[in-house]
Parts: sequence; structure tokens; C-alpha cells
Amino acid sequence: MNNFIFENATKTFFGKGCVKEYLACLSSHYGKNVMLCYGGGSIKKNGIYDEVVESLVKVGKNVVEFSGIMPNPTYAKVLEGARAARENEIDLLLGVGGGSVMDCCKGISMAAVYDGDIWDDFFARPGVMEFEPLPLGVIVTVSGTGSEMNGGAVITNEALKMKTGRDYAKCNPKFALIDPAYMYSVPKRQMVSGAFDTLSHIMEIYFSKPDENNVSDDIAEALMKNVIQNLRVAIENPQDPVARSNLAWDAAMAENRIIKLGKQTDFECHQMEHQLGAYTDCNHGEGLAVLHPVYYRHIYKDGLSKFCRFAVNVWGIPERGKTEEELAYAGVEALADFIREIGLPATLLELGVDGSVDLKEIADSCAIAPGSYKKMTHEEILEIFKESY
Ligand code: NZQ
Ligand code: ZN
Repeated sequence: MNNFIFENATKTFFGKGCVKEYLACLSSHYGKNVMLCYGGGSIKKNGIYDEVVESLVKVGKNVVEFSGIMPNPTYAKVLEGARAARENEIDLLLGVGGGSVMDCCKGISMAAVYDGDIWDDFFARPGVMEFEPLPLGVIVTVSGTGSEMNGGAVITNEALKMKTGRDYAKCNPKFALIDPAYMYSVPKRQMVSGAFDTLSHIMEIYFSKPDENNVSDDIAEALMKNVIQNLRVAIENPQDPVARSNLAWDAAMAENRIIKLGKQTDFECHQMEHQLGAYTDCNHGEGLAVLHPVYYRHIYKDGLSKFCRFAVNVWGIPERGKTEEELAYAGVEALADFIREIGLPATLLELGVDGSVDLKEIADSCAIAPGSYKKMTHEEILEIFKESY
């Protein structure tokens, strides 16, 4: 295992009814002005908005609304939110939504108090955060990204055509409320894409060194199996409370830093998907579904032992009669079959990316992750994009 330091400052409340039970008390630790941040309005249709506002008003909060946070949130939206937070002297940001709302709020929490340009100083390159961002609490309404329990924010700078994620410990939400019942109204397509994002996070961590026996890889295998099993159940019955609870907690577990401990991690597939998203605004989980099998066909020979473990321990593929290479490859194909089974797009065309985009320009803009079994080049990323058609 590699050396590590562990910190996760988010106090997390999980389970049916947790917002009603805890939000009023949690928010009373902060000043009067709360900025309620949300997306395109799903929370007004499913009753979450009313429940949240009632809890805040009950403890005398002055609620300022900031809405319209779009999927794949933009830097412009972050700056708009930061202006609103300053003008209204906000004491607490409350993000109610999925990864897009939570990430935008993290950006707002930084930009609202920082004098410089947070894109230049914290997103274009990693920075050292020597200030306290505005306090943030989150209520998750769609699971998948795990943003609720980390300091990660993925922001799209439209002018630069860059979608960049950074994880700053100081941006961890002060509290996170995860009620799986809040997620029943999520459209099936988004539920599946979110669950695949979770599976992707786990794989991006698992498929990296070290390969020696380590607890993080063992937990990762348990989580992958749990996502696969419960997603199958949730597709049949989206209101299955056990399946939705498992998927919601899998998402948080994948990205609350626990399974990263002692691991190098990869995230090259995320780098590729983020740039694909920056150019096409595609759905994050769906973009990952297209790229993952193609990417793994490129790298599995360089991480044979882990890919063999994946085939056997996650997909139950028998070892007998197969060479190591055949076994490892069978695991990658099992993943590709699963993507088809759950109805996610398997090609760029199915994702809605047509020939009008310049794949070379996108490939050249991708960051190269240091942690993978095989270090990518921009030429190989272009090959992966082309093979994804
Ligand atoms: O905007 P509204 O109207 O609320 O609709 C949303 C949105 O259209 C809808 N939705 C959310 N909760 C709902 C609901 N619809 C009905 N009922 C509910 N209860 O779902 C749609 C998608 O929401 P979004 O937040 O965009 O999805 P997701 O959670 O997948 O977040 C995606 C963003 O997170 C980033 C992605 O790149 C992308 O920008 N990521 C963030 C990470 C992090 N911070 O750690 C890690 C990830 O790898 C990822 O990159
Ligand atoms: Zn992701």
C-alpha cells in the first residue's frame, strides 16, 4: 500500500426522512442568510423544494434562491452565484441537486470569498487554498458523482473549452443529507447513467497500482458487485428502497476518498470524458460508458493481474481453460455487455456525437493522468475516440 493521509470533514446523514429530521437543526449553526441553490426545477415538481424551505423558514432563515444550475455547470454560472452570494451577504450555501448543483456550489463557495480568479488559481492548475470558502451544505437528489462527500468540483469553462475537476479538502460540504427516497423521481436514464458514473469511479481507482493485496481493492470489488446487482434491481423497480439505498451509498463510498487510500488511481477515462463533455455537453455517465471498454482494451495487457481479478471476482468468469490475457479480456467484454444490458450508449454516435466534432482537437486537449497502467499519449487518445464511433 502507498502511504496516505486521510481526512473527510463532511458530516453525513443518510436515510429516509433525514432532511426533515436534521436540516433545521444543522442550518441553525450558521447565520441568517441561506442561499438555496438548485438546478432546472425538478425539486419544485417532486416536493423536495417545499420540504427544504419549510425546514429553513421554521428556524427563521432568510432564504435567497439561486436556480438554473445546468448539468455540466459552467464557470459563468459559478461567477453569477458568487456575485449573488456576496450581494446578499450569504452565511450558508445550500445545494439541493446532483453533482452539477453540488459542484457549482463548491465553485461559488470559493469565488464568493476569493479576490482573484478561481479558474486561474485553482482550476487551470492545482492551487493552495489558504482561505476558508463559504460554508456549504448539500442535499443529494440524484446519486452517482459522490460529490456530496468530497471537495471535488468539476466546472466547464466554456470560453476555453475546458472541463476541469479539482478536489480541495476545504471544499468538502460541512454536511450532506442523503435521502434515497428523494431520488425516486429521477428519470431512469439519469439513474442508470449516475450508477455507471459510480462504477466508473470505482474502476478508475481499482485499475491502478499497487496490485499487491490491499484493503482498498477488496472494498472496491464489493462496491462494484453491489452497484451491478442493485442497478439491475432498480431498473426493474426504480422505487425499490433497498436497491436505491445501496446505489446512493455506493456513490458516496466511491468518492469519499476511502477506497483511494494507498492507491495511485487512474482517472484517465474521466479526463477523456470531461473534454468530450467540454466540446459536446454530453451526459457524464453516458460518455464514460462509451469510453470505458475501448480504453480498457488499450490498457488491459499492462495491468493483466488486476484485470484477471476483475474478471473472476466481479463478473464471476471461470479461470479454467483461459490464458491470463483471455481471462482479462473476458472481464472487459463482460463490462461492455453490461453497458449494453443496462441501455447505456456504447458508441459516440449513440451518444449523439456526430462527425462534425473535431476529435483530434478534443484528444489534444485531454490531460494525461500519471497513474494508469499505461500512460496515454494524445495520439492513443485519438485512436480511442475513433474506435468509439
Ligand atoms: O436540474 P434539475 O431540474 O434538478 O434536473 C436534474 C438534471 O437535469 C435531474 N434531477 C436531479 N435530481 C432529480 C432530477 N430529476 C428528477 N428528480 C430528482 N430527484 O437530473 C439531471 C442531472 O443532474 P446532474 O446534477 O447534472 O447529474 P449528476 O449528478 O450526474 O452530475 C453530473 C456532473 O457532476 C460532475 C460531472 O462531470 C457533471 O458535470 N462530476 C462531479 C464529480 C465530483 N464532484 O466528485 C465527479 C464525477 O466524476 C463527475 O465528473
Ligand atoms: Zn464521474
